[in-house]
Amino acid sequence: MVYTMFSETRRRYTTFILLITSILTAWYVYVPVPEEFEEPWKLRLVETTGRTIRHLAVLGESLGMGDSVKLARRLFDIVMLDYLPSDSNITMKDTSVSDVPIRIYAPIAMGTEPLPAIVFLHGGGWTIGGVKMHHDITKTVSSRLGIIVISVEVPHDEETEIYLSYVDPDSLPDKFKPDDYKRHQPVTVNQTLWNEVKDVMLNSTFSPLLKHDLKGLPNAYIMTVKFDVLRDEGVLYAQRLENAGVPVDLRYYEHGFHGCFNLHEIPGFHVSKVAMEDFLAYAAENL
Ligand SMILES: *[C@@H]1O[C@H](CO)[C@@H](O)[C@H](O)[C@H]1NC(C)=O
Ligand SMILES: *[C@@H]1O[C@H](CO)[C@@H](O)[C@H](O)[C@H]1NC(C)=O
Ligand SMILES: *[C@@H]1O[C@H](CO)[C@@H](O)[C@H](O)[C@H]1NC(C)=O
Repeated sequence: MVYTMFSETRRRYTTFILLITSILTAWYVYVPVPEEFEEPWKLRLVETTGRTIRHLAVLGESLGMGDSVKLARRLFDIVMLDYLPSDSNITMKDTSVSDVPIRIYAPIAMGTEPLPAIVFLHGGGWTIGGVKMHHDITKTVSSRLGIIVISVEVPHDEETEIYLSYVDPDSLPDKFKPDDYKRHQPVTVNQTLWNEVKDVMLNSTFSPLLKHDLKGLPNAYIMTVKFDVLRDEGVLYAQRLENAGVPVDLRYYEHGFHGCFNLHEIPGFHVSKVAMEDFLAYAAENL
């Protein structure tokens, strides 16, 4: 009898804890997303993972485990599972050139004929991101096309980290803004810092969109997505290349969001798969 009462209390207690945990989880995971998203729950999962990493990184920093940006980068590398799934078509080698770390993907069935190669410079705004985080893309491109892919670890030095935390899209010259241009959110620019970095930010080697003469550049494939603060720059750059007579293939994905290209395998967004297949078809024809 005593035992039954005890287990009844415990059962209620467990149910209560489960209920509270579920409510808290739902509250943490649920974020409103625009209605046109095809796979809102997958997106919420990705967003929650990113947010959790940022929270853990900030917590880590307050516990004295190091800089939060570097901690976040390490955590992203871990969740991207760059060693999985293995692929029997290719080999992968981490090495370096002039002290810059690179990863080379090459087909196993490589003959003596020279193969085309793609040099891949990853995204991540010079802060988050790296070779491992983009493995999903580089591995697939090498494996499916049977070509070499060289993925370069873009350096994350303190200076570029600072530059990028203050970049204001409104600082682009007016002539590159369409009439209905709206910036996505107000940004307070630190004028002192802006004065220090503007020579680099407005240097066309660093920002090719600002280059006056784009004639003679190689054919370009430009992919932009609707839900991305970088969409406008992609479209504008494609237009400028076209005006300069450079053959451009501009693809625009209505259901895409920032960073979706390297999520075609895990968790496998539909839009990411379509974008990957389109790119592979273009590369197979043009390399
Ligand atoms: C391996 O290469 C073949 C073409 O040689 C391709 O059809 C297949 O999709 C590749 N496998 C993977 C996992 O990419
Ligand atoms: C603005 O930037 C300068 C130079 O990096 C820095 O010393 C200063 O603390 C910044 N001010 C604010 C309000 O962040
Ligand atoms: C832009 O940057 C490149 C590479 O660092 C440099 O060679 C060039 O002189 C710079 N141009 C200007 C106008 O500062």
